[in-house]
Amino acid sequence: MSKMLLLLVLLSLLNPAVEALDNGLALKPTMGWLHWERFMCNTDCDTDPDNCISERLYMQMADMMVKDGWREAGYEYVCIDDCWPSHERDAQGRLQPDPKRFPGGIKKLADYVHSKGLKLGIYADVGEKTCAGYPGSLGYYETDAQTFADWDVDLLKFDGCNLKWTLLGDGYIKMSKALNKTGRSILYSCEWPLYEWPFQTPNYTAIRETCNHWRNFNDVFDSWISIKSILDWTASHQDSIVPSAGPGGWNDPDMLVIGNFGLSHDQQESQMALWAIMAAPLLMSNDLRDICPRSKELLQNRRIIEISQDPLGKQGYRSAKGNSFEVWERPLSKNRLAVAVLNLQEIGGPRGFAISGVAGWKVCDPQCNVTLILPEYKEMGVQTKESKLILKVNPSGTALLTVTPISKDFGRIHWKDTD
Ligand SMILES: *[C@@H]1O[C@H](CO)[C@@H](O)[C@H](O)[C@H]1NC(C)=O
Ligand SMILES: *[C@@H]1O[C@H](CO)[C@@H](O)[C@H](O)[C@H]1NC(C)=O
Ligand SMILES: *[C@@H]1O[C@H](CO)[C@@H](O)[C@H](O)[C@H]1NC(C)=O
Repeated sequence: MSKMLLLLVLLSLLNPAVEALDNGLALKPTMGWLHWERFMCNTDCDTDPDNCISERLYMQMADMMVKDGWREAGYEYVCIDDCWPSHERDAQGRLQPDPKRFPGGIKKLADYVHSKGLKLGIYADVGEKTCAGYPGSLGYYETDAQTFADWDVDLLKFDGCNLKWTLLGDGYIKMSKALNKTGRSILYSCEWPLYEWPFQTPNYTAIRETCNHWRNFNDVFDSWISIKSILDWTASHQDSIVPSAGPGGWNDPDMLVIGNFGLSHDQQESQMALWAIMAAPLLMSNDLRDICPRSKELLQNRRIIEISQDPLGKQGYRSAKGNSFEVWERPLSKNRLAVAVLNLQEIGGPRGFAISGVAGWKVCDPQCNVTLILPEYKEMGVQTKESKLILKVNPSGTALLTVTPISKDFGRIHWKDTD
């Protein structure tokens, strides 16, 4: 057998036939902004014009994304969540935006967002009504998909409220087909498993064939308890969900709440680090017009974003837990590794953690190069299997680092690269 054939056989064994939705999108975890966690269903434009769900809000966010370096950092999608439509469909049965809050209509908003080099996301629901009680898409999948395509929308978040759970799979698959039929590439963000878990274990093969990312667990809140509950859920279900992530389809642990009110800076670092380890979509929900410089710097940290967007596209997992520490590891391209060490002890000061004890440290045989990314950038140099490196981790904070294997036999590496 030729070396190439052997490699292909090995690769196919490592990647069971989990085919992603074939729309050419989400080859890396989606990056952007989504209104829900911060702005919710605020429709009161009379007394709160700056924060209500209106075309103005998305135009201002798009402006900020260009002006403040977000687009440059990789954040691309400006996404509308629930509460944008009128309570009535139009005479042709099509969804229409609330006329008072979106006087220009969605097509014009999409044009505006596109003119800034960004993309527009919209929201609908697989059932009879959206979670906030606006018209749902049940019975209108093709009409709604075509409407979104006609408006030049780039992403659809499709919620799962108000539908009998036995119909969820059918509904999500039908909408996926309807989107495909429009001929426009529209990134498809699902909540199918979230609504199915209470009744049965979701079929992640089918979900990956249907959606570009999928929510598994509760909505994120602006609190450390919420972040911890999402991490706990993810770790305790990692055997069933991690294998389904890869280019074209990702597990979605919900929005980044960094830059809001509820998390300390260490906790914000923990969310950013762990969302990168989980290969999660990086959809911020915050107010880009008013965000503290430290939060902005964290969200735009290119070294963390590089981990999130690593071309290997493998989701990381929790590899160890004990003494109120958790270790999460994510395999990266070129045999590199990202490691996050989370200190869950919410009392006292920074605690030491011996990093050479983690499972992935085996790449340090014979040598590796270690770079600390959080809580601060620091090149820790060449290390070996025996190195006694102690990391200091703040309460509810995370140390994030990358480990790059170094072979002493440079000739051999050269031979491998050119094979
Ligand atoms: C529709 O699906 C086919 C087959 O999976 C794929 O080749 C094509 O690119 C898809 N089109 C769009 C617009 O997603
Ligand atoms: C899961 O979905 C896949 C793809 O649609 C299908 O082939 C498979 O039979 C399903 N598995 C179960 C247990 O239903
Ligand atoms: C280790 O990594 C740092 C940061 O990427 C780099 O500057 C340095 O040259 C590397 N050292 C070795 C020996 O590879």
